[in-house]
Amino acid sequence: MTLLLLFIVYAIGLAAGLARGGLRSVTKISAMPSGRPLTRVLIVGATGGTGRQLLARALERGYVVTALVRVPGKLSVEDPRLTVVQGDVLDYSTVEKAVRGQDAVISALGHKRFFAPTRILSDGTRNILSAMATHGVRRFVCETSLGIGDSVGRMGLYYSLFVLPCILPLYFWDKARQERLIAASNLEWVIVRPAVLTNAKVRGTYHHGRRIGSFLWTARIARGDVADFMLKQLEDDSYLGTAVGVCW
Ligand SMILES: NC(=O)c1ccc[n+]([C@@H]2O[C@H](COP(=O)([O-])OP(=O)(O)OC[C@H]3O[C@@H](n4cnc5c(N)ncnc54)[C@H](OP(=O)(O)O)[C@@H]3O)[C@@H](O)[C@H]2O)c1
Repeated sequence: MTLLLLFIVYAIGLAAGLARGGLRSVTKISAMPSGRPLTRVLIVGATGGTGRQLLARALERGYVVTALVRVPGKLSVEDPRLTVVQGDVLDYSTVEKAVRGQDAVISALGHKRFFAPTRILSDGTRNILSAMATHGVRRFVCETSLGIGDSVGRMGLYYSLFVLPCILPLYFWDKARQERLIAASNLEWVIVRPAVLTNAKVRGTYHHGRRIGSFLWTARIARGDVADFMLKQLEDDSYLGTAVGVCW
């Protein structure tokens, strides 16, 4: 009984920390007209689940794409409009090389080191933001997750009371740091917070907004639909300066 009570106090404390640590407010940002169409896009995390969907869809939509990847052999796509830069997001020099000359950056960075304190998401994102500032690249679309800032609890009870407190507290702590860094930048940014990701077939229709998800049930969405929504944020200014949830 005491253990259960301690766990509940811990889970509530974690939720409060993630609520305070992640983004809660809207930053007023006006897009700066660049005078030329947005065509060149860097994708970070292109070998991952969402990243592969981003890559395929970005090429389909006619973008000139650069993928920053650690292991180029993991990419099965070949296209004359695709450039692959081998590098690690934690290595500033490779990030800078990949960012140079782009019109926008999309990040679907993630990893599986759930049980160790890491700063991969926040340090990697800091490198991206810094390279973007250096090279005057304005638009940044970054995938984080529901369950942070003003979306705490919106992944449903199973995630709020089991997955986040037992498996992902350190990971989400770093995601909260990542969101704060993005919000503190002077870029045109959109944070996209998906519900639980699946590899199911895309539906092409989904809910998006700052108050979506469920406090009870596990909300889900296919990675392909998340990729579709993220790509739309490259040219749509409606959610600039906000963290927007997306789920079926
Ligand atoms: N799973 C869910 O239900 C869920 C729900 C909401 C949000 N999210 C978040 O959504 C994001 C994408 O998730 P996902 O499952 O689609 O992606 P994923 O399969 O975990 O892919 C992550 C990508 O990040 C890359 N990466 C990791 N460390 C890197 C480094 N140091 N330098 C360069 N690239 C690096 C990986 O490259 P390698 O191929 O080389 O490892 C991979 O391409 C993650 O942030 C995840 O936490 C997930």
